[in-house]
Amino acid sequence: MLGNFSYHNPTRLYFGEESLGFLKDEMKKYGENILLVYGGGSIKKSGLYDEITAILKECGKNVAEVSGVMPNPTVDKLREGVKIARENKTDFILAVGGGSVCDYSKAVSVSVHCDDDPWEKYYIRFEEPDCEIVPVGCVLTMAGTGSEMNGGSVITNHEQHLKIGHVFGDDVMPRFSILNPRYTMTLPKYQMVAGIYDIMNHICEQYFSGEDDNTSDYISEGLMRGLIHASRIAVKDTQDYEARSNIMWTATWALNTLVSRGKSTDWMVHMLGQSVGAYTDATHGMTLAAVSLPYYRYIMPYGLKKFARFATEVWGISPDGKTDEQLAEAGLAAMENWMKELGLVMKISELGVTDDMIEGIADGTIILDGGYKVLDRDEVVKVLKASM
Ligand code: NZQ
Ligand code: ZN
Repeated sequence: MLGNFSYHNPTRLYFGEESLGFLKDEMKKYGENILLVYGGGSIKKSGLYDEITAILKECGKNVAEVSGVMPNPTVDKLREGVKIARENKTDFILAVGGGSVCDYSKAVSVSVHCDDDPWEKYYIRFEEPDCEIVPVGCVLTMAGTGSEMNGGSVITNHEQHLKIGHVFGDDVMPRFSILNPRYTMTLPKYQMVAGIYDIMNHICEQYFSGEDDNTSDYISEGLMRGLIHASRIAVKDTQDYEARSNIMWTATWALNTLVSRGKSTDWMVHMLGQSVGAYTDATHGMTLAAVSLPYYRYIMPYGLKKFARFATEVWGISPDGKTDEQLAEAGLAAMENWMKELGLVMKISELGVTDDMIEGIADGTIILDGGYKVLDRDEVVKVLKASM
């Protein structure tokens, strides 16, 4: 490892079937006024809403609610949440749901005591919070984003056709997250596999970069092997607790800042996918799946050694008799087969992208320079067209 870095993660995790039992102790640390944030109703159906409100009642909390946080939460919904949080003098935000609910809660947390418009301040000017931050805790119901142990918060602005993430610092990361794999079992299969690919791609975004011999890459390879193994079990039997549990834990480690230490990172699949999401409102993991192979095949020659290593170390392909190029191609072919096994969406046209959107999607794609090839705008268009 040749980089210089610091490493600290402030989020306390409670993992397993008993993990909700720790909510009561955590709640003692915070004020009386709780803002309970959740999505479109899955937690009411599963009974989790009743369990959590009972615990909050037992703790003597005043509970206000923001419900209906949609997948890919919007800036309008953010403004609504900020208003409710202000009216109720919120001391603590409890997010119960998937990455969208957790991301959204962080966005509210940095906006309650901020006079500026949050979209402009955090998502256009990328400023850091300079106001009081309302602490957030999370009860996770979907594995994928890693939002439970990171500072990421992605917000969509439909008017501007932009979907942008801000990675906030330690103060905004959840104070605690409760991870019970059992809660993820009610997820529709489409969401489960989208989450699995999101995890895989988070690791790839941090793996396909850098030239040095780096511990982070070895950790990433282990995480990817474990994920592929568990995903093959879960896709056959979504109720396999052990597999769902491994998937949930891998999601957290895939994006809690550990595997990016000491390296540059790519994140171009996410930049492309987010811009596709801004136009289509498609499920995050599916937007990534649909642009990944055209992107990786395009940049492969620039990071050939790493792609060859990906083939042998992640997919178990024998290097015998193969050039680096053949090996690298075989690795991506193995990933493609696995993606099809999971039933992922492999084309952006299937997510609602039409030819007339391509230029706009390219305009909304933020070009980053940490990967093996810095794309120019024409190349972004090329990759998008190849993803149709
Ligand atoms: O709204 P409800 O009714 O809860 O339904 C949700 C939603 O429709 C449903 N769901 C979640 N848990 C469930 C369940 N349904 C039944 N049973 C359960 N246990 O699943 C649907 C999708 O949920 P969502 O939270 O949108 O999914 P995900 O966790 O994939 O989050 C996606 C958002 O996170 C952002 C994405 O851009 C997107 O906006 N990301 C956040 C990141 C971060 N914080 O670091 C990084 C990621 O790359 C990603 O960009
Ligand atoms: Zn993602």
